[in-house]
Amino acid sequence: MIEFILNNKKVRVQHPAGMTLLDFIRYEQNLTGTKIGCREGDCGACTVLLGRLVDGKVKYDSMTSCITPLGNARAKHVVTVEGLNMDELTPAQRAIADYGGTQCGFCTVGFVVSLSGYCLTAENPTVESVISAIDGNICRCTGYKSIERGAAALADQLKPKDLEHPVKWLVDNNFIPGYFMDIPNRLAEIEKPKPKATAPVFVGGGTDLYVQRHDELHDEDIGFLFDRDELKGIYPDGNNIVIRSAATATDMMQSEVMNTIFPNLYKHMKLVSSTPIRNMGTIAGNFVNASPIGDLTAYFLALDASIILTDEQKNERKIKLKDFYLGYKVLNKQPGESISHIMFEIPSKTMHFNFEKVCKRTYLDIASVNSAMLVEAENGVISSINISAGGVGPTPKFLQKTCDFLKGKEITESILYEANDIIQGEISPISDVRGSESYKRLLLRQLVFAHFAELFPESINPGELV
Ligand SMILES: Cc1cc2nc3c(=O)[nH]c(=O)nc-3n(C[C@H](O)[C@H](O)[C@H](O)COP(=O)(O)OP(=O)(O)OC[C@H]3O[C@@H](n4cnc5c(N)ncnc54)[C@H](O)[C@@H]3O)c2cc1C
Ligand code: FES
Ligand code: FES
Repeated sequence: MIEFILNNKKVRVQHPAGMTLLDFIRYEQNLTGTKIGCREGDCGACTVLLGRLVDGKVKYDSMTSCITPLGNARAKHVVTVEGLNMDELTPAQRAIADYGGTQCGFCTVGFVVSLSGYCLTAENPTVESVISAIDGNICRCTGYKSIERGAAALADQLKPKDLEHPVKWLVDNNFIPGYFMDIPNRLAEIEKPKPKATAPVFVGGGTDLYVQRHDELHDEDIGFLFDRDELKGIYPDGNNIVIRSAATATDMMQSEVMNTIFPNLYKHMKLVSSTPIRNMGTIAGNFVNASPIGDLTAYFLALDASIILTDEQKNERKIKLKDFYLGYKVLNKQPGESISHIMFEIPSKTMHFNFEKVCKRTYLDIASVNSAMLVEAENGVISSINISAGGVGPTPKFLQKTCDFLKGKEITESILYEANDIIQGEISPISDVRGSESYKRLLLRQLVFAHFAELFPESINPGELV
């Protein structure tokens, strides 16, 4: 039995938990405001809000329903555009209409839902953050400037929002319908499902699996990890940071402790997918998907992170992330094992971190090549260094030989050219849609140069690195 609240209605159904939320909404509930575009999480036409009860309050996130399994809606408040409509246009709807932000209208519902999610969550509304909230929505015919102007006007209207009682303020000012006020009580009455200890397939946010296999998963016996409380959270533990496996990219981006350690975290994480996909995609899912260009994998490889694998009998095995990848999509993981958490040692204050990614467009695109570097240098001499590289071989790479070479070396342009000779021997890119072999070789060289130019501007003159 799957139980949740869909707009203002309690739903209790026996449908397969593996079917997509989009199909349930459109074909079982006839809520056709939610559109189908790409079915791959890329266009945002199917965006809905999912609200989860956390400490008595409902935390709403935008998600793409086309790659969300129905099972991940359990005990939540699912909001489609029909659940936002009132007698008059809401400020989010009016912003699109007043600024000419719609033509054919196909994408418009997705934009309205994302903007309404922003109204619910924004604490410090700014033009930058409201535009960020629609970074997963694509419009093929209006042109983004009018949508952005509408979004900016909406952010202005949110400035007086009462942060003590945000939902009441939004209801009183006709941003959302009145029934939102009672959702926390109604969600509290729904019993959370008991997690399965074992299952043939585990699903986190579904952002990889449902792009690849949504048809097959429809009737699969799935172990849902996304909402398991014991798998949520990011916290320090002694000298380490522990990230539980169902923590999402958004959890990481918003984590206070992670932002303290990595001052450029927001800038780096903005390069990873889009707001709704970051709201869904888990860090462990990125590791296990084992894409050679996984951004979070590259990030954590450079931190020399470890993963803790737990089997059905709760036996734990700790391995380095760099030892997890044995070949293309071949993992050092036994059947029945899942990642319970991720750990890395907190870098000292004298260590510096950088992440670089090149793709065909700046946002909402997977990398052609990516790389991260954690480095410490004393008087211009490298004392410790980790460099990762993605998109240049069958697995995400830790550039061990390059790191061994650079340790103890002074940071100069000529040393970086020598390091590049070693890098080129460590990688084996292939030509594909993301670029030719030689282009990827060149990209990785430039990304490693970029790490040093960014972190050591006093030692490296980018003009010398051509
Ligand atoms: C539109 C779009 C854009 C994207 N852009 C990017 C991008 O820019 N950069 C990037 O790196 N990725 C990107 N991705 C890929 C994806 O979002 C990430 O890889 C995400 O982190 C996957 O997490 P998930 O929880 O959704 O994984 P799922 O799809 O739920 O699972 C992926 C795999 O991990 C397994 N799994 C999940 N959790 C566990 C666990 N705890 N233990 C064991 N196995 C587990 C599943 O069984 C499955 O094999 C994008 C995806 C989409 C749809
Ligand atoms: S249909 Fe395109 S993101 Fe879902
Ligand atoms: S208005 Fe036509 S796709 Fe956006």
